[in-house]
Amino acid sequence: KAGLKYFGAATDSPGQRERAGHEAAYAQYDQIMWDSTEFSSTTPTNGQKWLFVEPQRGVFNFTEGDIVASKARAHGKSLRCHALVWHSQLAPWVEETEWTPEELRKVIVDHITAVAGHYKGQCYAWDVVNEALEEDGSYRQSVFYKVLGEEYIKLAFETTAKVDPTAKLYYNDYNLEWPSAKTEGAQRIVKMLKDAKIPIHGVGLQAHLIAEQPPTIDQHIAAIRGFTKLGVEVALTELDIRLTMPATPENLAQQKEAYKNAVGACVQVCGCIGVTIWDFYDPFSWVPYVFTSEGAALPWADDFSKKPAYDGIVEAL
Ligand code: XIL
Repeated sequence: KAGLKYFGAATDSPGQRERAGHEAAYAQYDQIMWDSTEFSSTTPTNGQKWLFVEPQRGVFNFTEGDIVASKARAHGKSLRCHALVWHSQLAPWVEETEWTPEELRKVIVDHITAVAGHYKGQCYAWDVVNEALEEDGSYRQSVFYKVLGEEYIKLAFETTAKVDPTAKLYYNDYNLEWPSAKTEGAQRIVKMLKDAKIPIHGVGLQAHLIAEQPPTIDQHIAAIRGFTKLGVEVALTELDIRLTMPATPENLAQQKEAYKNAVGACVQVCGCIGVTIWDFYDPFSWVPYVFTSEGAALPWADDFSKKPAYDGIVEAL
């Protein structure tokens, strides 16, 4: 659509959901997700995360990620893969062990070799490192950072590049949608990798936004340009725009405007290549589980009707 290479929706692997008794809703969900032309790309919201793919050291399980990958293939949708090295939804064994730097390096290399190896050739892009930064731009004190320092980021990108040389390698994080200390931190990561001649091709702006206080389109464009001028592409990778519940005509109108501006910011910058919304159907959104009294963050309502947000997206494309 328009200047973007793709407009996608992330989805959870059907195996993780309870379908019994809800067959009609899932039929409608699948029709929009897979059969319609609404989305040309997808991302597994959970199935490729460390917790699920390597729950024990050296024990790999690709069941859930493969469900989404094979549906994507069957329906001609491109796949963004998510996420190789992240402090959250990490298998407990990684955090519970006292690693020497040498051991943890091997853990990271073995994980990426197995996971990126399993999906080799299937991923348009990999989120190689997810959420390495604090809001002030300093590094998050994850197990990876505590043992290896910023070297773990170099190792993760270097390893993924070797294992799947055709995937675009992304650094992905939230609150990168307006210029800040955190966007500077992400720029620093891009420069660090480029200076070390290690491939990085993109920065993913998760774009978990708030309808009542979104970035302005100018701020959003400035943040995107801050990355594209370093010679990497940008994508909005997990776009959703939550409301304070309940939904009202007023906050739904604010949400529409915010979607229009977020997608519009990407459309207006040459190096911003695609947008993925973090699921499309409100009942399957992660938002209500994490943000108290917030929700209705996606373009499709509970009854599968399209919300004003949908029109906002269409107007921007
Ligand atoms: C979320 C999933 O949507 C939820 O189902 C899960 O319980 C928690 O993670 N940033 C990310 C995503 O990079 O992986 C997160 O996805 C949302 C925040």
